[in-house]
Amino acid sequence: MPATTKKGKKAAVRKKDKKPAVQVRAEVGLKNKLAAQKARLQILETMEEIGRLLNSTLDEREVRKRAMESATRLMRSEVGSLLLIDPETQELFFEVALGEKGETIREIRLRPGEGIAGWVAQTGEPQIVNDTRANPHFFKSADEKSGFITRNMICVPVKIREKIVGVLQAINKKRGKFTPVDLEGFRSLADQVAIAIENAGLYKELKETFLSTAAALGDAIEAKDAYTGGHTKRVLEYSLVVGRRLELSQEELDQLKLAAALHDIGKIGIEDRILGKPNRLEPEEAQIMESHTVIGAKIVENIRPLRGIIPGIRHHHEKYDGKGYPDALKGGSIPIMARIISVCDTFDAITSDRPYRKGLHSDIALQELRRHAGTQFDPKAVDAFIAAFENGEIEPILYRNRPGPLFPSPSPEKAPS
Ligand SMILES: [Fe+2]
Ligand SMILES: [Fe+2]
Repeated sequence: MPATTKKGKKAAVRKKDKKPAVQVRAEVGLKNKLAAQKARLQILETMEEIGRLLNSTLDEREVRKRAMESATRLMRSEVGSLLLIDPETQELFFEVALGEKGETIREIRLRPGEGIAGWVAQTGEPQIVNDTRANPHFFKSADEKSGFITRNMICVPVKIREKIVGVLQAINKKRGKFTPVDLEGFRSLADQVAIAIENAGLYKELKETFLSTAAALGDAIEAKDAYTGGHTKRVLEYSLVVGRRLELSQEELDQLKLAAALHDIGKIGIEDRILGKPNRLEPEEAQIMESHTVIGAKIVENIRPLRGIIPGIRHHHEKYDGKGYPDALKGGSIPIMARIISVCDTFDAITSDRPYRKGLHSDIALQELRRHAGTQFDPKAVDAFIAAFENGEIEPILYRNRPGPLFPSPSPEKAPS
């Protein structure tokens, strides 16, 4: 038997180990398939959680924030962003957080077709760009404005009932490149985001319609009382300014807005003879007039979503020293909504035309608020109103929707309390 040489031995081993090319290809294919399945599964798992998170809020800002966070997380990228189309200009706009803590937010706008995102929004074609610099659509200015360096990007359109409303993008994958499997997952995220955006938009519209109906109703009633039109809307806006200064929560502000819009709804039940009377009311007439607080609370009591605003309506004529009506509540036991509305209502009553006199100058109204702080009004609410006035937040509301020069110069006439 001839002795086997070293070289011959190696060749024999190689020959024995060498797999047929078909088998190698099949193995590689299987490995890739498995990796893709694993990636798909990971995306599905994350998607389930993200879907729940996205649909558990109806606040538009919160939806945008969660969409960006979800895009970053799902694509394992450095940054995610949601660009929305401005229906008026057709521009794409998005917010970027500048600085480590994101304390400065800046809005960046892209013209239609501008940049990769603009191109995706225009054509509706999703894009994976693994080398942004080599892409003819890449828009360097966005990087220059945000101080960010974009290496690669995945970008999909966000569609609500076939209409493109924006673009979702993830930038700079932390490891490797964006893949077709990523694109599948990112498209289903964009569908979820679209649903959340639509729901939040519908909810906002519903709230606005409800509020403007309430404000129109309030104004219609005020018109009977011969105030200058727009009293309700101004009281509503003043109240929000004061409420924000007193650091009310968003939920409290929403309640305050509705309570202010409907504070005098009870006047619907007061006879025109008394409501429209140009002179001072007789004691029994004044008593009937005062019942508008209780009537208002009763009307609202029957509307379940409005029950939370009853305190604002019932108590907006209480006085801080306990000498108001209908329940003679005192100080802090008067609901905060009512204490705020009371200040704003009085300011507007003094500065508005009445059947028997022209509206008085804002200086006089402010003097009155100061004079009655602690007796008629909550001093903190008065301070907040005056601070807002000095900061220029009140006058734009005061002058809105009123024709011509408004007030006669300050006169010594006694203002109503
Ligand atoms: Fe009132
Ligand atoms: Fe009022």
